[in-house]
Amino acid sequence: MSVHKPLPHDAAPLHVTGEARYVDDIPTPAGTLHLAFGLSSVAHGEITSMELSAVRAAPGVVAVLTGDDIGHADCSPSNNDEPLLALGMVHYVGQPVFLVIADSHLNARKAARLGKITYAEKPATLTVEQALAADSRFEDAPRIWARGNLPDGFAKAAKVIEGRLEMGGQEHFYLEGQAALVQPQEGGDMHVTSSTQHPTEIQHKVAHALHLPMHAVRVETRRMGGGFGGKESQGNHLAVACALAARLTGKPCKMRYDRDDDMVVTGKRHDFRIDYTVGIDAEGRLLAVDFTHYTRAGWSMDLTLPVADRAMLHADNAYWLPNIRIESHRLRTNMCSATAYRGFGGPQGMLGIERVMDHVASVLGKDPLEIRKANFYRASTPAKAGPGTGKRFSAEHSPKTAAAPGVQTTPYGQEVEDFILHELVAQLEKSADYAARKAKIADWNAANPVLKKGIALTPVKFGISFTLTHLNQAGALVHVYHDGSIHLNHGGTEMGQGLFQKVAQVAASAFGVPVEAVKITATDTAKVPNTSATAASSGSDLNGMAVKAACDTIRDRIAGHLAERHKTTADKVSFAEGRVSVGTVDMSFAEAAMSAYTARVSLSSTGYYATPKLAWDRIAGDGRPFFYFAYGAACAEVVIDTLTGENRILRVDILHDAGTSLNPALDKGQVEGGFVQGAGWLTTEELVWDDKGRLRTHAPSTYKIPACGDRPRVFNVDLWVGANPEDTIHKSKAVGEPPFMHGIAVLMALSDAVAACGDGSTYVNLDAPATAERILGAVRRQRGGYV
Ligand code: MTE
Ligand code: MOS
Repeated sequence: MSVHKPLPHDAAPLHVTGEARYVDDIPTPAGTLHLAFGLSSVAHGEITSMELSAVRAAPGVVAVLTGDDIGHADCSPSNNDEPLLALGMVHYVGQPVFLVIADSHLNARKAARLGKITYAEKPATLTVEQALAADSRFEDAPRIWARGNLPDGFAKAAKVIEGRLEMGGQEHFYLEGQAALVQPQEGGDMHVTSSTQHPTEIQHKVAHALHLPMHAVRVETRRMGGGFGGKESQGNHLAVACALAARLTGKPCKMRYDRDDDMVVTGKRHDFRIDYTVGIDAEGRLLAVDFTHYTRAGWSMDLTLPVADRAMLHADNAYWLPNIRIESHRLRTNMCSATAYRGFGGPQGMLGIERVMDHVASVLGKDPLEIRKANFYRASTPAKAGPGTGKRFSAEHSPKTAAAPGVQTTPYGQEVEDFILHELVAQLEKSADYAARKAKIADWNAANPVLKKGIALTPVKFGISFTLTHLNQAGALVHVYHDGSIHLNHGGTEMGQGLFQKVAQVAASAFGVPVEAVKITATDTAKVPNTSATAASSGSDLNGMAVKAACDTIRDRIAGHLAERHKTTADKVSFAEGRVSVGTVDMSFAEAAMSAYTARVSLSSTGYYATPKLAWDRIAGDGRPFFYFAYGAACAEVVIDTLTGENRILRVDILHDAGTSLNPALDKGQVEGGFVQGAGWLTTEELVWDDKGRLRTHAPSTYKIPACGDRPRVFNVDLWVGANPEDTIHKSKAVGEPPFMHGIAVLMALSDAVAACGDGSTYVNLDAPATAERILGAVRRQRGGYV
């Protein structure tokens, strides 16, 4: 069988030779025009005049469009609140105000700098405090979910601990910037090539902007050079702009952002402030947890509501919290609109409770791992699970209704049925030699006044499924040609994560052929309609199942035909190693396909899949939003220089649960890459907006992502051996986002190293990103010096 083999990425040879075609590499027809935006230079204000004659007169310029010319061409994925070009008002520095259409990319960009726009500036809402004071928010009021009896939990607590954690946002820094190419077709139809995780959304937005039915717009995406959530909605603007320009000029139109523009214009991860008050018993078990989340969502709604929901949904991470209340403020600010980013709010919510664990351990003078384990969900024997029933969880202090015996529920009432973290963490503790290294580090720290080491081991439990339940569906289209070769198509998109290869392995396995027999093709809205974004890590779960359904249909038809021809029953027909056997008769898969074709048996099929068991009420915060959970744990060791705050990751051990992996090589790659990206978020990747709302970190010179030299010196990554108890594609688990949160181990290890500078009387309180400056400040606080 092709599945479960550690095959390389299907496009690896193309990636390393530079042959892989991204949107900007596609040869364009002669006469193709190029686009660039003129951007707002103020964070909030009314446009009082636009002087664009120099732009129009610039070399190569064909046309210049403003909001007045095009009206509200909406680019929002949620709320119809994002006109392509500003309509009278601007809401952030970098908002597109006018559109230049020129004969070359460079001419378009140069001309875009020549616009003279004046504004009547208004006060900008930039900080959490400003937004709260102005009641500037999405949704009328903060969302509140609660379970249990909070006052009762606090009353029983031996100690109450309060704290505040701030964590920054994160630039996606996909290597390929946003790009789109639109080629007008006969009759006003449009063919769009887009670097997008969501071709159907591009189709929908382009059709809407041009007042066309969706059938007149076809979107293709062969691959992205990374998406990481940044291409779920942020590509809409480029595709819509190209489509409008293509209609106006009748020419193919192309747009790609320069890196600085990409960083200034497009949304990033939501930054969060989390305030917490928790009550604990003498052993550090959490009896009451009160969280308040504040997130700066930027100027438009985009995907903020589900992102902030997912932060709330991961406020428990791996821990049983009998009495909990979470209040979530989604604040509207005059910044680029924060958007999806690997983990989709999950990392932010999870960091809240991991900080609490660290804080509790510090107060009790215990090993944080001991506190974590004391709070783990109970390991439970799988019980019969159904969708969330009744009100487990209403606005305030509802009594918890009992789940199946022995099974604990999340704060939102989902039963935690397959909690494997007790065994998984025990295995990692052993393989990473946690206890012995912790003791050695303590000795080392006692002997070294300048350099200090730290170690931490943190768990991850991440919910798999889109929380907008209807998105959990997928389609596929598979053809078998009469030479036995197979054409594969499905609604998922490839962004480097290896989805196409994993799904090709599923198809090859269904027909018992080698993966080379399967042609992977570009995502295409004309082949599979109404797709969801490739997101929420569910690409292989959803599309793998849809493809398997399509392949099984064709295989069963071939089997039925061969059984009839050879006077036997279909169960006597088997497909393996490129051969098909019918009783004693043996033939190649190609011969079987030809035989079916000549007997006039259809060799093409669609396939469809909808995730079962989901039921979720996001207002009440009650039900089963997730089909299952993915688990893992990471142990990180770091060293800091207490004179400068500089630091290194010395060693990382990760054990990650990908179920029965579809492809252990690709899945390990996801775990490594996810961890490094998560560690970058929490250490060196710092976004700085000045008091005018200008992003000062808009290039690699000022924004530091992890480079090869920042990887851990020792990096041991293993996959947990264990099948998904749910009926997923070949018993695998989604793996795209969960490993991102292993980066939390690095922040906690840094906290441990800083703690070694003090006497344990005050908690370290290290915020993220833990840049050298922040670490230095925390060290000085521990040493009681100036900050
Ligand atoms: N891996 C690579 N190499 N490039 C990416 O852009 N995106 C991540 C993750 N891994 C990404 C990646 C994100 S945000 C998601 S949601 C998943 O991949 C999406 O793909 P999947 O559902 O097929 O796992
Ligand atoms: Mo991933 S943030 O769900 O694209």
